[in-house]
Amino acid sequence: MDPQAQRAGPCVLVIFGAAGDLTRRLLVPALYNLRRGGLLPDEFAIVGIARSSKDSEAFRRDLGASLRAFDNHIVEDDWKWLAERMFYLEGDFDDPAAYKRLAELLPKVDELHRTGGNYLFYLATPPQVFATIIDRLGEAGLVRESQTRWRRVIIEKPFGTDLRSAQELNRKTLAVLRETQIYRIDHYLGKETVQNLLVFRFGNGIFEPLWNRNHIDHVQITVAETIGVERRGKFYEATGALRDMVPNHLFQLLTLVAMEPPTCFAPESVRSEKTKLLDAVHPFGPEDARRNVVRGQYGAGTVAGNSMMPYRSAPNVAPDSATETYVALKLMMDNWRWAGVPIYLRTGKALARRRSEVVIRFKQAPFALFRDTPVERLTPNDLILHLQPEEGVTLRFGAKVPGPRMRMGDVEMKFSYRDHFKAAPSTGYETLIYDCMLGDATLFKRADDIEAGWRIVQPLLDAWTDRHFAEPAIYPAGSSGPQEADALMTRDGRHWRALDGSTVATSS
Ligand code: BG6
Repeated sequence: MDPQAQRAGPCVLVIFGAAGDLTRRLLVPALYNLRRGGLLPDEFAIVGIARSSKDSEAFRRDLGASLRAFDNHIVEDDWKWLAERMFYLEGDFDDPAAYKRLAELLPKVDELHRTGGNYLFYLATPPQVFATIIDRLGEAGLVRESQTRWRRVIIEKPFGTDLRSAQELNRKTLAVLRETQIYRIDHYLGKETVQNLLVFRFGNGIFEPLWNRNHIDHVQITVAETIGVERRGKFYEATGALRDMVPNHLFQLLTLVAMEPPTCFAPESVRSEKTKLLDAVHPFGPEDARRNVVRGQYGAGTVAGNSMMPYRSAPNVAPDSATETYVALKLMMDNWRWAGVPIYLRTGKALARRRSEVVIRFKQAPFALFRDTPVERLTPNDLILHLQPEEGVTLRFGAKVPGPRMRMGDVEMKFSYRDHFKAAPSTGYETLIYDCMLGDATLFKRADDIEAGWRIVQPLLDAWTDRHFAEPAIYPAGSSGPQEADALMTRDGRHWRALDGSTVATSS
């Protein structure tokens, strides 16, 4: 963590859904890492709320045990520091009495830990209760700010399940809170390498002049996972790969790669540019929905040496399910920078490799110079931004193979985060929680940003209500996805970068 970074100011973090997976797996480890990095103030406390009946002591003990299970090098003093600031409140999210108890507890915590009446409410709950919690917080007067104290709310993904429900949730939250109090999370924006996209593009003089339709042939954005749906069948059946990944994570990557430079790094400048970019995506008509989108679903196969059963056999999945576990799309932009440059996105589960990356393919150099030489093909220049699991940047270009003949070889220049920076372990949530404590909303989504994302995918959701149209292409688990996704590229004379890192994708 950055040793120069300032400590956050006094506050209480109130976690709704404190008995859940997110709290255990990500929030508490992130808070522990923030403490390790010296970024939490002494005037800090955590109040966890959930339905299960336990006391603060058991709450601390349970979370301490799971933290140790994830990391066996816990520094006990730092955990102790955090644990003694943790409180538990039993309550139903819908029950006004729970909020009354919360309103009584918080001033006591303020007094004990000098947290100054600043509260950060984290909704780590199922999305169905987001609006209820916000309503109840409003009724209990807990989100009222004053000159001397702030009140903020972090809302987890998914924010809506389509355009209409996202608009409705925005309407309900904005009836209780001001936009500046709302922090809509997309955990991709907490990832270092995703944030690095901004620095890479706008902190270096050499890339931006090339970052447009005059020099770029196309862009590929891939988020490939090896895991299947595991025990999330019920959620996934109602969600599918498009809703789960595209209007949020993939569009966040898209906006950072393709937006115009903001005038400064102030939240509103950055967020306005992102929304403008999404507004420039050419809307999918019925014909594009058929031609430029591929839906896939994994069948049986082998991933990393382990056999995987088909999606349709996963728990809580219908045996004839048409839910997509893979989606590939071709987008076009209606703006000056990108007109005519296709942007291909793909994401899927149970694929051959876990790999998230952005490939910028530059236009080919003119061949004329090499006409009278034995050079058969010119190396395409790719700039590859590796997001996970490797983190770094690769530039691919042609170089002369040593020897008397004019031959060209394909070479790469690589920068690896791991080798260069000795980064401390991070869940990605550290930055997001810390920024929210500082009141910096740059990495959070604004209401219009959320709606712009859903507006792009809504025609696809509409088209897929026709089962015949929506029948997914089955791909073997452990492959690189359906052949139809390869065809989406080859029809344009292009190829996906293979999931193993070679240039031309092998079809499944
Ligand atoms: C979540 C999705 O938002 O992101 C999951 O609901 C997905 O289905 C996950 O697996 C991917 O996140 P990461 O950080 O592992 O790339």
